[in-house]
Amino acid sequence: MTKKRIYLSVPHMSGLEQEYISEAFRSNWLSTVGPNLDGFEQEMSDRIGPGYSALALSSGTAALHLVLRHLGVSPGDRVAVSTLTFAGSVYPVLYLGATPVFIDSDVTSANIDPAMVAQYFRDAARSNALPKVLVAVHLYGQHADIDTIAALCEEFGVALVEDAAESLGATYKERQTATTAPFSILSFNGNKMITTTGGGMVIGRDSEAIARMRKWANQSREPSVEYLHTELGYNYRMSNVLAGIGRGQLKVLDERVAARRAVAARYAEALADIPGVQLQNEAPWGTHSRWLSVITLDPEELPMGPRDLIRDLELENVESRPVWRPMHTQPLFSSAQSIGGAIAERFYQQGLCLPSSSSLTEEDLARVIGTLKSSLSASALPR
Ligand SMILES: Cc1ncc(COP(=O)(O)O)c(C=O)c1O
Repeated sequence: MTKKRIYLSVPHMSGLEQEYISEAFRSNWLSTVGPNLDGFEQEMSDRIGPGYSALALSSGTAALHLVLRHLGVSPGDRVAVSTLTFAGSVYPVLYLGATPVFIDSDVTSANIDPAMVAQYFRDAARSNALPKVLVAVHLYGQHADIDTIAALCEEFGVALVEDAAESLGATYKERQTATTAPFSILSFNGNKMITTTGGGMVIGRDSEAIARMRKWANQSREPSVEYLHTELGYNYRMSNVLAGIGRGQLKVLDERVAARRAVAARYAEALADIPGVQLQNEAPWGTHSRWLSVITLDPEELPMGPRDLIRDLELENVESRPVWRPMHTQPLFSSAQSIGGAIAERFYQQGLCLPSSSSLTEEDLARVIGTLKSSLSASALPR
């Protein structure tokens, strides 16, 4: 009999979502306006911290598009982005006709490397080729060393954006993710920390800017009785029904973070005595959301590579995935400038993401860990 499939990261409902959805149906707010949208945005602002505004949207990619447009990104501009990320961190740069410049990871956090950023900004300033914006991604839920990067952005006049799609619930120096840059984006895609099935959000302190983005997201309709448009718009608003799911999900965010962190801790403990296996570390500056638990396999210690382990897990009907393929190695971005890249490439070659859902049962975890242990031990070199 085929064993139950264990997926990488699945939605985990709290049970509270249904009431918000039913209320949307009862009240007929089956639209891209309504009380769930207002409630979700308000509750996210309350959760993130005083003074922050939130704009609920159809995706995280849409959120980044609006933020970059607000920051004035246009054809001919450069936008610096972490190379080790998902393509959604970069597509909006192309939507606006600008050019991405990819920046390597640091060895400690696997996030954008502040030393590389410093070197790049210094060199680019000399040739008048500074980027307009830098997008720092909090990889797999690990916060980038954002204060160091923010100081560099300030010094060189580059706007800073946080891509917190994977890090909701993480902290940086006691601050919540998505509050450490003027604008941040979140994703509520089905595999994320919390979900609205698909969705995203802009977070920022500048409420006027958020209002402008809200207008763009709503087809740029002017406040007029007739349909009046003075600038380009998009249909990017979240549905009031889906915002209801978000409200129910947000109520259990802390539990979801705790559960994913517990999964990571179980992997760390179970794999501690296998030489050459390393769980992505937790940087000293904050709390990792552990959206995904990522391990690396050191080829000096283990002849087996991530692809072999992915295959062995698949034979047990367990889903795992390679680490993001760095953007500077993607065919789509083959002509883009890359600042370094070797660390991200190494992480990609040696890493894989393990099942990390907050709903994993003890039995599921035992199955994944059992497969990992037997597969890795069989491959270990004699000492
Ligand atoms: C780092 C990162 N940025 C951006 C996105 C885009 O978000 P969405 O899928 O909601 O458009 C995602 C994930 O999907 C992501 O992981």
